[in-house]
Amino acid sequence: MGALRQNQTFRWQMNTDGPETYEKYIVPVWMADLVPDLLAAGDVDPGKRVLDAACGTGIVARNVANRVKPGGRIAALDANEGMLRVARRCATEAGAEGIEWFSGDITRMPFSDGEFDSVLCQQALQFFPDKAGALREMKRALVPGGRLALSVWGRAEMSPHVPVICEVFTKYFGEESTTIFRVACSLCNKELLHALVQDAGFSLIRIREGITIARHPCLAELLPAYFAGFPVAARIDALPEERRNQLFRDIMAGLEDYTENGTLAVPTEHIVLTAENG
Ligand SMILES: C[S@@+](CC[C@H](N)C(=O)[O-])C[C@H]1O[C@@H](n2cnc3c(N)ncnc32)[C@H](O)[C@@H]1O
Repeated sequence: MGALRQNQTFRWQMNTDGPETYEKYIVPVWMADLVPDLLAAGDVDPGKRVLDAACGTGIVARNVANRVKPGGRIAALDANEGMLRVARRCATEAGAEGIEWFSGDITRMPFSDGEFDSVLCQQALQFFPDKAGALREMKRALVPGGRLALSVWGRAEMSPHVPVICEVFTKYFGEESTTIFRVACSLCNKELLHALVQDAGFSLIRIREGITIARHPCLAELLPAYFAGFPVAARIDALPEERRNQLFRDIMAGLEDYTENGTLAVPTEHIVLTAENG
C-alpha cells in the first residue's frame, strides 16, 4: 500500500510533443514488455522479411532489427510523422541499424504484394477507422503462408488502472472523456477479433490472452506526464490548480492497491493474435 498524502501536489504541464511523451512514458511502462511475446508469435528469425505496421516510435522495429540478421529485412510504417521522427532517433541511439521507415496509411501501404514473411502490429488495430481495410492490406503485403501477429489490449476490468482512471475522468469531465480507453480496449472480445481477421481472408487464427505488469518508479510523476498527451489534456489544464491536484490524488487513491512507496505495478491484460496468409 502506498501512503497517500492528502495535500500532495503534482507537476502539470501541457504537452508540446506527444511522440516524445509517448516514447518516454507509454513505451517503457506499457509497450516494451509486450514485444518479446509478439516477436515469438510473429516467427521473427534470421533471414525473415518483417513489417512493423503502425510502428509508432518504433519499439517493435528496434527489437526486430538485430533478430532478422543476417539477410533479413525490417520495414516500419506509421501515419504520424512525429512518431517516425522519434522512431528514427531512438533507433540510432539504440544501435538498431537497417530499419526502413515509411510514412503512410495502413490501408494504402507502399509495398508490393507478398513483400514480407511476417507483419507485426502492436496495439494499433483498435485505432484504425478502417480495420477491415487495414487487415486486407496487411494480408496483401504478406507472402502466401506468411504470418500476421498482432496485439490489442484486453478487458478493461483486467487492467485495474483503466476503470480507476475512467471513473475519475467521468466524475470530472463526463463519460465522453473516457473514449480513448474504450477505443483502446474495443477489440477485447475474442470472437469479434477472430471474425475481423477471418473476414480479411486469414486462416489458422489463434488468439490468447497475456498479462504484463505496467511499472513506473513514481506514479505521481507518471500521471500528469501520461495525461498531458491525452485528448482530455486541455480540460485538465483548464481546471483550477487545486481541483487538478485533487483529480490526480483521486486517481492515486484508486490505484493505492497497486502502488508501493510511490512505485506503480499494475497488471494489464493484452491479447495476442496470430494468423496465416492463406
Ligand atoms: C498506440 S500506438 C502503437 C504504436 C506502436 N505499434 C507501439 O507498439 O508503440 C498506435 C499507432 O498507430 C498509428 N496509426 C493510427 N492510425 C493509422 C493509420 N491509419 N495508418 C498508419 N498508422 C496509424 C498511430 O500513428 C500510432 O503510432
